[in-house]
This record gives sequence, structure tokens and C-alpha cells, in this order.
Amino acid sequence: MVTEELSYHDQVLSYVLALFDPYVTRMREKSMKPVQTYQATGITVTFDPNLCIHSAVCLKSLPAVFDTRRKPWIQVAAATVSQIASTIDKCPSRALKYVLEGREMSADEAKNGQAQTVTTIQLARDGPLLVSGAFVVIDENGVEMETTETAALCRCGATGNSPFCDGSHLTIRFVTKPKR
Ligand code: SF4
Ligand code: FES
Repeated sequence: MVTEELSYHDQVLSYVLALFDPYVTRMREKSMKPVQTYQATGITVTFDPNLCIHSAVCLKSLPAVFDTRRKPWIQVAAATVSQIASTIDKCPSRALKYVLEGREMSADEAKNGQAQTVTTIQLARDGPLLVSGAFVVIDENGVEMETTETAALCRCGATGNSPFCDGSHLTIRFVTKPKR
């Protein structure tokens, strides 16, 4: 009896969710922020704010180029191409990427040409799951969303860019449970 009730309830819920799905998708697309592009001789840097987890790695590594206190916050002419590239390689979320001589490079590229054999998932304190190593993201319908080697996956549930972290865990003051 209970199983039938639950099953009926689930069917109604699925129907209602399906009705609202296009609306939710449109709202989500509207709330996505545009990708920013910054160019200098030999390098083009892109920043996707929908993927930034606010780790501040870029700010600490190369403040001459990455500084949120000024506009524009990225100034690619303020350092060498290799300095910028090595800093972007440390970005844990792929929010930052760069193109050198027409070839896209990022932390997705195997470090120093060495392919990583084991994919790791690191739990960031009060933050996302940091994935490093080859993996494929597949959506609810079995469709491949992305093949990548670096990503920050949301674990707080507040992201507007599911399944990726967009930094919203800071807004909601997400706290992971302490170890017992
Ligand atoms: S996630 Fe990347 S772009 Fe965002 S603050 Fe950290 S290093 Fe910078
Ligand atoms: S863990 Fe960052 S938005 Fe959820």
C-alpha cells in the first residue's frame, strides 16, 4: 500500500518537475554570467565566473595580473606569458584558461606532459569536491556533458551551475561536518 502511494506521489512529482523544467533551465541560463576574455601578445586568458570557487590561488600566486580590487581585475600585460600560464595551471576549477599560439591550454593539460594515472577527489574544507585526473560528467539523461581533468564539483547544493561549484558555498556559509 505504502509503496503504491509513494509511487503515485513520485509520478506526480516527476510530472510537476517536468512541467517546470524548461522554465528552470531558462532561469538558470539567464543567471549565468558571461565569460570574460583578456588578451596580450602571445596569450589570451579567459575567465568563467560561473566556475570560480574563490580559492584565491590566482590572486596569491600572481597579484600583478590577478587583483580583484581593480578593474579590469585581470591585466595580462603585467607579467610574462609563462608566469601567467603557470599560475592558471594552478586554478583548481578551470575558471581560468588560456590559449597560447592558437592552442587551448589549462590545468586540464597533464602537468609537465605527464599523464595522471589516478583520478583524485579532494574534499575542500567547507567547499567543493576538487577532482584532478581524467573523468567524464554525464547528465541525468545519459548525455556526456564534459570530459575534463580538473573540476570543482558542488557539494553544498547551492550552485547555479550544477554540477560545478560557482562559489555559492561562501554565500550560504556552507560548513562541512567536523570529523567525529
Ligand atoms: S578558482 Fe581559479 S579563478 Fe577562481 S579564485 Fe581560484 S584560482 Fe582564481
Ligand atoms: S560547493 Fe561551491 S557552490 Fe556548492
